[in-house]
Amino acid sequence: MKLHTFALACALIAPAAWAAEPTAESLVSSRCATCHGAEGHATSPIFPSLAGQNREYLVKQMQDFKSKKRVSETMAPQVADLSDEAIAALADFFAARKARTHRVSDADLVPVGRYIYTKGNSWSGVPACTTCHGENAAGSTNLPRLAGQNSRYLLAQLKDFNQRIRNNDNEAMHLVASRLTELEAKAVADYLSQLP
Ligand code: HEC
Ligand code: HEC
Repeated sequence: MKLHTFALACALIAPAAWAAEPTAESLVSSRCATCHGAEGHATSPIFPSLAGQNREYLVKQMQDFKSKKRVSETMAPQVADLSDEAIAALADFFAARKARTHRVSDADLVPVGRYIYTKGNSWSGVPACTTCHGENAAGSTNLPRLAGQNSRYLLAQLKDFNQRIRNNDNEAMHLVASRLTELEAKAVADYLSQLP
């Protein structure tokens, strides 16, 4: 192939290759927004908000849904066809958005939740959540931010960890979740949902 013909072929192929990879913005508006909101604020309390979530954690969860390490019939088809680049771009998109807080239905539960979060329960062996998720529940690179997350979603995850329905965390959360009473789990989830 002569050089100019080759250059022409490249010029013709390149735009098509680019068009095949959708941008994070177009993926969010055409797919994710239905449940996670256009700016990462969940459209229902059963879905997690993604706004302000830590980038590495988001990447890991999407990869885990894709490889079925984290089992979700809802999420698996959403990420099945996404490349590593698309996953990274989506994580950047949501990590850069601002998280929101929620109002709780029973204000008396908040101090109970705060106690569990910061001190755990030494009588039953619940470790303080702060050791891993941080003083302000902001998480770290691959540990999730919990502050401002939907209470119902948090509670559902604690149940799933307890029953080993979710075990993509190498069982770190199983022990924690198995020792929480229902009241403690509800209180800590409510406490976290109203944190800025
Ligand atoms: C039909 C609703 C729906 C759509 C559409 C959807 N999701 Fe989800 N997503 C969920 C549900 C439900 C969960 C929680 C799954 C579970 O219980 O483990 C979830 C969880 C997640 C999580 C893990 C959050 C966390 O805190 O651990 C990420 C990341 C995520 N989705 C990203 C996306 C992205 C990116 C898209 C678009 C490409 C998308 N989702 C589309 C419903 C949806
Ligand atoms: C030993 C460290 C450790 C401690 C202590 C700990 N966690 Fe976790 N937590 C983790 C890890 C690791 C993950 C999951 C990371 C992953 O999926 O890759 C996680 C995930 C979670 C999630 C899921 C968040 C989401 O967006 O899906 C919730 C909810 C949670 N933890 C609540 C708590 C609460 C409440 C406590 C205290 C009672 C606590 N954790 C204590 C390590 C810990």
